[in-house]
This record gives sequence, structure tokens and C-alpha cells, in this order.
Amino acid sequence: MTASDSRTHASHQEPGLLAPGIARFTPDEVDPASLPRSLAFERPWPRCGPVPADWAVVPTFTQVSGAWQALIDPGDGTSFYGTGEVAGPLLRNGFVTEVWAKQPFRIDEDGTPVANYDERSPSLYQAHPWILAVRSDGSAFGVLADTTYRLRIDLRAGIELRCESPFPVVVIDAQSPQSVLRRLAALCGTMPLPPRWTLGYHQCRFSYYPDARVREIADGFRERRIPCDGIWIDIHYMDAYKVFTFDSEGFPDPSATNDYLHRRGFRSVWILDPAVKVEDGYSVYEEGVAGGHFLRDAQGVEHRQWTWPGEAAFPDFTRPETRRWWSELTVEFLRHGMDGIWVDLNEPSPILPHGAELPENLQHLGGEEIAPGSHGQYHNVYGMLMSKSTFDAMLACRPDRRPFVLTRSSYLGGQRYAATWTGDNVSNWEHLEWSVPMVLNLGLSGQPNSGPDIGGFAGTPTPELFAHWIAVGSFLPFCRTHNALHGNQEPWSFGAEVEEIARTALLRRYRLLPYLYTLFHEAATTGLPVARPLFFADPCDLGLRAEQRAFLLGADLRVEPAVRDPLDTPLARPQGVWRPFALLGEDPEQPAPHPRLSLRAGSMIPLGPAAQTVDEVFDGSITLLASFDEDGRATGRLYEDAGDGFGYCEGDYRLTTYEARRRGAQIALRVVQVEGSRGTRHPHPKVLAL
Ligand code: NOJ
Repeated sequence: MTASDSRTHASHQEPGLLAPGIARFTPDEVDPASLPRSLAFERPWPRCGPVPADWAVVPTFTQVSGAWQALIDPGDGTSFYGTGEVAGPLLRNGFVTEVWAKQPFRIDEDGTPVANYDERSPSLYQAHPWILAVRSDGSAFGVLADTTYRLRIDLRAGIELRCESPFPVVVIDAQSPQSVLRRLAALCGTMPLPPRWTLGYHQCRFSYYPDARVREIADGFRERRIPCDGIWIDIHYMDAYKVFTFDSEGFPDPSATNDYLHRRGFRSVWILDPAVKVEDGYSVYEEGVAGGHFLRDAQGVEHRQWTWPGEAAFPDFTRPETRRWWSELTVEFLRHGMDGIWVDLNEPSPILPHGAELPENLQHLGGEEIAPGSHGQYHNVYGMLMSKSTFDAMLACRPDRRPFVLTRSSYLGGQRYAATWTGDNVSNWEHLEWSVPMVLNLGLSGQPNSGPDIGGFAGTPTPELFAHWIAVGSFLPFCRTHNALHGNQEPWSFGAEVEEIARTALLRRYRLLPYLYTLFHEAATTGLPVARPLFFADPCDLGLRAEQRAFLLGADLRVEPAVRDPLDTPLARPQGVWRPFALLGEDPEQPAPHPRLSLRAGSMIPLGPAAQTVDEVFDGSITLLASFDEDGRATGRLYEDAGDGFGYCEGDYRLTTYEARRRGAQIALRVVQVEGSRGTRHPHPKVLAL
């Protein structure tokens, strides 16, 4: 950088407070009104006053060779997290992330491009222009580069943000990382409470085909008494991969397949891809052309690229008319009785050639709150807008049920419409280890509902690897096994010993579901993640900052996976008393590969029976597991509602805060507080003391 190509601007012009603790800065030379409306924010946030004079974190904007740069001095000893979906360590100090939704490709040893990732992949499927910074004293701030354009986040020496287009920086400053996340949720929205069944275990495959195989898999779970709630149907159900069609041989009657699953207590989730095959006579393509729904280049020519069905056109989800059209198609599709929709390849990713993307000069037409702009401007929000259209379809089709959408690509704020998974991982130990920090960093970026493909998508896990993966994956918010066209990956595919480990792992999850559902409710109302990094137990303890194998569920439950660190580093532990406990049987020291669980002294969590479906768990009785503090006191909460629908928004829920006191051998339980008007199914829960 030379003096001539660099101009520094003070960033004090027109900065404004959006809310207490949240300030927005723009470069001096840019009229804030000329910047695009934020698509991360849930709604517009007008300036409510000036930035206080003692505001600590102020970005310095610079122009470097035509690009816009914002520099932030984080102060010594600050730890960085977030940046969305990133492989590798939890702690992001020293890393560069390119915020650009991408199906990652890595080059194999023999030179073949392989569709998966490692910790050097600068971009994965999602785009989160967001950093959570935790200072050495435990206070924290968050930095949101409020742009949808490609952005480079360089955390090698402080915080350096760079983008071709000018962008505002929103800084959230707070006393703790938890408070920063609450404020982020105030700006960008929270995950709506998902239907309760989605917290169960899901079995997926690319692809179960034909429908008889789907039925066989479902029966396999019930015969073997392995808990499961969701069976997932991947692209082979389509006729020649054409979206919104069914293969007449393999899936002649999708409604009958769904009915079969429903009768056995399963829900079904079916995949949809955004690209539409170019084919005369294919109604979806013809309607798309007639409605002007497909992306065009600057000359107005419809853009086509190669995806699963061959040459395909791409809907312009920035157009409200196109989102509505897509929603209507999805509503028709849902009439076959699907319970959830999985949207894939929506970075968007053509299939061939490897690593192909849509040209950045394609034209998005926008409409309503979205201005017209290039694909370079809207690429990063394509997946989120497709998720929104799908979410809206589910709501329109069944106004009394909560939508469930799983998306591969998303953007900061995308939790408003969809849950997510960590894309095409690989059946190896490294990818198992990254599963935890990936889920944690997504949670620290506003997305509380995520999980990996258990066992790995590409390749076949060894029995030992699968056993470890399902043992850990059972404690992550979204719990699904999925794999590609390799060997079978059902819990019973690796022999009797692994089958038993998988059954135990999932029964442990199901027993914890009342606690997990309470945490999902907390995430939906506050933005706090379900799975949290260990340092949340004590943000001042620097020894916890890099711990990425052990994690917390909520504030009170510590999960210590049995996966060994290659360097044999011992797991970090927060100060204070944490009592190990068993979920099945008596032994708190579950043998590897099951994670060791412990409960913070002073806390109490609700457990259900070890049942086969989520509904059975919630039909059963509740036990409160208490870990008393030195004064013999433990508190905890239980959230109850109908499990689906929106009654809870009108007060039809019950959030009970309990306190248990132990005096000698006596335990007294009292209700400290009740929120909501719903009656409880558990007027006298049993308390089990640790
Ligand atoms: C890519 C997705 O990441 C994967 O999960 C899916 O199975 C395949 N596409 C096929 O639909």
C-alpha cells in the first residue's frame, strides 16, 4: 500500500446509536442513505442518537486500491469467534475468512477436485459478516460488516475488514459475550421455535431409493428399538432431478410414502434444489420463463448452468414475485404430506465444472425492500432468500403448524427462516472434531440450530468413527446422520456393538429432550445458543477460551466428548463444582465413546423418559435432576407447550422456574415463577439429587 492509493477517513461523520450498546459507523465519504438496506437486520433500525463520547470500539475506514477497508483495534488479549460457518479451531485469531457462500472444493493428492473442506478453506456454504470479540476481562463486543457483497475478514492482527463496495460497520458493545448475542438477536432476529419433533434424531441418505427402501429404513428403526423421528428423502425421488417432480417408478405415490411414515410415528423431510431444468414442456421451467423468474445477464439473456438435471436456469429470489411463485410451487408440493423441506445447493452451486459459480454480473431485479443489483451484490443472500420463500410456503400451506426448513446456504439473520447443517463433511476424525467448533461458531453467529452429517457425508466411517460421531452428535442441536453414495450409514450398519452404542447415545438425547426444548425456547426468545462454548461458564477465565472439544448445553450442562485430542491436551474445565451424572442406568462414568456429562452445582434440569419418539418423551413424566450448591439449593426451568402450532405466541405455554432445597435427607421443591397461561402436565415432578 502506498500513500497515494490509501486515503484515511475519520469515521465520526454520521455515526449513530441504533439502541443502547449498538452503534453504526459509515465512511465519511459515503452518504449513509446511499447504502443498501440491511438484509441482516430483521427490520430497519433508525438512528436513535449520537454515539457516546466514550464509545470504545471505533472503526477507521480507509480506501485501498479502490477497495474499502475498516480497521478495528480490539485491544490486547482479545479472543475472536463467530465468522459463521468455519472449519478448524473455535478460536479464530490468526484466520482469514472470505465471506462468500461457496460449495468448497479442495484438491486431492492426485489432483482431483473434491467437494469438501478443510481448515484452510476460506469460504464455506454460508455468509456471516460477523465477529464476536471477547476481551481479556470477559467483556465483549461484536462487529457486523453490514454488507451482502464479498467481504474479507482478516483476524491476523486485530480486525481488518475489506470489501469492494463501501459498507457500514455496526458495533455491539456489552459486558459479556452473552449480552452481545442478545443484542445481535435484537437486530437480526431469532430462530422461530421449530416444531418439537425436529429435536429428535433424523436419518438421511443420498438417496433412499425407491420408496420401498424408505419404508424398510423406517421399519428398521422401530424393529430395533432405536429412537428416530425423521426420515429424509434426497434428490433421487425426482423425475430426472427436475425440481417439483416425482420419479414415476421409484416414488409413484409420495403421499402414500408420507402416510406410511406418519403411521409409524415418523415425519418426513424432502429436498428441493433451486436450479430448474431447461426443458420444453416442463411446466416449472415454462412458468419460470413466462413469469420472468430466471436470472439474466446484462444483455437480458436467461443464464443457464449445469446442475443435476443438466442445463438449468436459476430463480431470482430477490424478486418478491419470484419468491411468491416458488412458494406456490412449494405449497403444491407440500400437499403430499411432507413435514419439512430441505433446501440445498443454494449458494447457489452449479454441479459442473467443479467449483463453478454464477457470474457476478448477472442481474437481480429485486423489488420491495431489495434494490436491483448484480449477482455479486446478492450472491451471499441467495440461500437465505430461498429459505424465506420456502418458510413462507410452509406457513401458507399450514398456517397452524410451525415451518421446518433446513438450508445449506444462509446469511447472517438466516436463522429467521431455516436451520442448517455443516455441509459435505468427510468420514474422518478431523471432521468429527470440527463438528463441535463449527456448531459453536454458528451459534455465536446467530444460528442456534445446526449439526453435522453424523458419520461424515463423503466416504465411509470405520465402526469406531461412527460410534464416536453419533455419541457426540446426539448432544448437538440438530442431530442427523447423512451420507453419500458410499456404504450404508444406518446405526445398525456397523455391527451389534456399534448399534448398541448408537441406541444408547440416542436414548440419552431423548431423555434430555425436555431440557433441550427449554433451551430451544430460550434461543428463540433471547438469541442465546443451545450449544455454547465452555468459556461461557466464565468469560474471565482465559484458560477456557480455546476449549473446543468440551462444550455446554445451555448454561448448566457440560458435555465432554471422549474423542481424544491428537496432542493429548487435557480438556479445560471451568472453576466450581460440576457433578457427573448418568442419563441411563446408574453409572455417571459412561464408557467411551459416550461423552461425560456434568451438571453445574446450583442447577437443575428436566429429563423425560428414554423413549422412541419425541412425542412419547413429552407424553411421559418429568424428573428434575438437581445438582445442589453448598447451601443445598438448585434452580432450573421447564418449558412446555403444544409442541407445534403458534398457541405459544398467544400465551399457551408454561415456563416454570423451580427451586429445590435440600435439608438433610428431605428435598422440598417449590415453583418460583410461572410464565404463560398453559396448565402443566407435571404438577409434581420427582426430584433426583446428584
Ligand atoms: C449436496 C448436499 O450437500 C448433500 O447433503 C446432498 O445429499 C447432495 N447435494 C444431493 O442432493
